[in-house]
Amino acid sequence: EHLKMLIDKLKKEQALTKEEWVELIEGRNAELAEYLFALAREERHHYYDHDVYVRGLIEFTNYCKNDCLYCGIRKSNSNAKRYRLSEEDILSCCGTGYELGFRTFVLQGGEDGFYTDEKLVHIISRIKELYPDCALTLSIGEKSRESYQAYYDAGADRYLLRHETANAAHYAKLHPASLSAANRQQCLWDLKDIGYQVGTGFMVGSPYQTAEHLAEDLLFIKKLNPHMIGIGPFIPHHDTPFADEKAGTLELTLFMLGLLRLMLPKVLLPATTALGTIHPKGRELGIQAGANVVMPNLSPVSVRKDYSLYDNKICTGDEAAECRFCLERRMKSIGYNIVTSRGDSLNI
Ligand code: 5AD
Ligand code: FES
Repeated sequence: EHLKMLIDKLKKEQALTKEEWVELIEGRNAELAEYLFALAREERHHYYDHDVYVRGLIEFTNYCKNDCLYCGIRKSNSNAKRYRLSEEDILSCCGTGYELGFRTFVLQGGEDGFYTDEKLVHIISRIKELYPDCALTLSIGEKSRESYQAYYDAGADRYLLRHETANAAHYAKLHPASLSAANRQQCLWDLKDIGYQVGTGFMVGSPYQTAEHLAEDLLFIKKLNPHMIGIGPFIPHHDTPFADEKAGTLELTLFMLGLLRLMLPKVLLPATTALGTIHPKGRELGIQAGANVVMPNLSPVSVRKDYSLYDNKICTGDEAAECRFCLERRMKSIGYNIVTSRGDSLNI
């Protein structure tokens, strides 16, 4: 009952302390989760009704100069079959997406020096020229503030950069020494300051993660107050140092989605592909826990299976249109509707 009181406190938009977050996470059970999800849905319906926003994800390169221990496209993975999409390929994905009703495109890729700022600015300008009514999101990792500014000036509207874990020591266990939690977080502040709508997020159940770490993630996110939060279970990839680690659970990921919805009621919260990968109804359950966004894949089917961050990723053999209609059906089956507006965040 004490834990229900903490959830009620959250619902009233009162901040929780780190100790209270830890209590909630460690003390959770099925009944508490149901209580949380009902309140999370109430908030979600209040601000976003039964609408589900769609983002067309274009995975344009799987080259990456980084070596994150969890990620299948890390540079040391010599088994990864590398690819890059040309500007024309990318524009053609946008065209397909536009026809299918997408009004947000997300360009996601590894940290790939082949795409210089000059090339990226050109791609961004072309997309915004051809599709002025669409929002353009970038998800291309850590760059200098000047680079972020250049993309913004070229027309990029939003930027996704998961902080991965707010705890510096935990961050160091998941990443090579060349990367730091501090720099990652600085990037997020820079992006916000420039004027991007910003998305952050973390993996649930990554190796060495504790309830304290998750509590720190929630506190960091509260402070950053992003427009979007992407979370999904960690899933091992067979060609990484974490091949034999356990995957994050559906249950904890859903619980974290519910907490995030109550903590930031207006935030955009995707039911991610990783969630759909660990359970056949993962994305539907995510929506029912408080999520309100889905991000189907627009990448050409010829390269889909090569953008392999983790094992058994869903949708790698499906055409964009199949995913679009599949998701439409899935959302309808639980009483929600895919909408085709830009879907800007109400969390401003
Ligand atoms: N399992 C789950 N998510 C992963 N990501 C990278 N590798 C994995 C994995 N093995 C997530 C990271 C990254 C996002 C693009 O994908 O959080 O920010
Ligand atoms: Fe891709 Fe269902 S969303 S096949």
